Amino acid sequence: MITVTDLRKVYRQGKKEVVALDGVSLSVPKGAIHGIIGHSGAGKSTLVRCLTLLDRPTSGSVNIDGRELSSVKDSEIRAARRRIGMVFQHANLMDSRTAAGNVAHPLELVKTPKDRVRAKVAELLKLVGLEGFENAYPSQLSGGQRQRVGIARALASDPDVLLCDEPTSALDPATTDEILDLIQDLTRRLQLTVLIITHEMHVVKRVCGSVSLLARGRVVEAGELADVAAELDSKLARALLPLPASEPLKGALQAGPVLEILFSGDTAKEPVLTSVARHFDIDLNVLAGSVETLAGQQFGHLRVQLAQGADYDAVLGYLRDRGISAKLAAAVGPSEPPDVDVDMPDFVTETGDLK
Ligand SMILES: Nc1ncnc2c1ncn2[C@@H]1O[C@H](COP(=O)(O)OP(=O)(O)O)[C@@H](O)[C@H]1O
Ligand SMILES: [Mg+2]
Repeated sequence: MITVTDLRKVYRQGKKEVVALDGVSLSVPKGAIHGIIGHSGAGKSTLVRCLTLLDRPTSGSVNIDGRELSSVKDSEIRAARRRIGMVFQHANLMDSRTAAGNVAHPLELVKTPKDRVRAKVAELLKLVGLEGFENAYPSQLSGGQRQRVGIARALASDPDVLLCDEPTSALDPATTDEILDLIQDLTRRLQLTVLIITHEMHVVKRVCGSVSLLARGRVVEAGELADVAAELDSKLARALLPLPASEPLKGALQAGPVLEILFSGDTAKEPVLTSVARHFDIDLNVLAGSVETLAGQQFGHLRVQLAQGADYDAVLGYLRDRGISAKLAAAVGPSEPPDVDVDMPDFVTETGDLK
């Protein structure tokens, strides 16, 4: 379990102060994967450095499994750091050492007996699916295999916590998913507590149970994935369930108001649109949509245009009564120009990745 409470880090540059972390709090239970996303400059690397004791926080606390890290004495830092496994964007392997040699390195540093090292390395390489690659050098391995070696090395000291800094940013999409699935599998099997720093929404969607959005050193949104995704106006929901731009239809029947609707969980399974059409005896059209399974639940984010003159207030009330988030995106009438709010939040690209 990781608990970060009101963490602040202020760097001094001459007379200037740079507030890199401005009161960050988060909590990740054992066996869970928490994603931290944010722009460049948001404070992600500073947070990693404070968690790995490469940097001392200015104030606040970092607690891992009941142990307060910020008060660890300098002489105990090495031992404390062994409780935290680090996985980097580029596996950062030693080119002159084989896969086995790289995984063995942290064990050799603490003078582990040779036969114990050999057995542990074999076990770790098997765990990450690299049996038979003991003697391969990094240059002979694919990017995904190198990252597997990096993960095996991170697990060599039997850490409680795995801290992954952009673990898949250098990998192609198929390899990204293999590595994410491996991290998820290891989290369950070894009951790790995992933090993944990323700028890719896909990583959050695929493996994170909870997420924090970091901006200017502060957590601006956070929560269980299923909860943040269900908030129609949250930045994270808009990034998790992006709606592509769309023009309202202008035909006589469909020059009506445009609604944005967010279904989640069980409500996603009900044929709500059909029931709206029947209940109000109106036509409607889906202009854009995004459907995802997040944290095992189905979510749908739709932009729907109702028939001209439809009583959108009544429709909104009907949807909300059924536990569905909905809002008016544009009240388009015959005399009004179409004006649909299709802007993505400024930190999200068209594909839903963070810029
Ligand atoms: N050693 C440092 N000295 C001064 N300012 C720093 C230092 N490290 C980071 N910063 C500043 O702290 C802020 C957060 O940086 P960083 O944690 O690297 O963000 P991220 O990893 O999200 O891109 C930035 O404004 C950055 O310029
Ligand atoms: Mg960084």
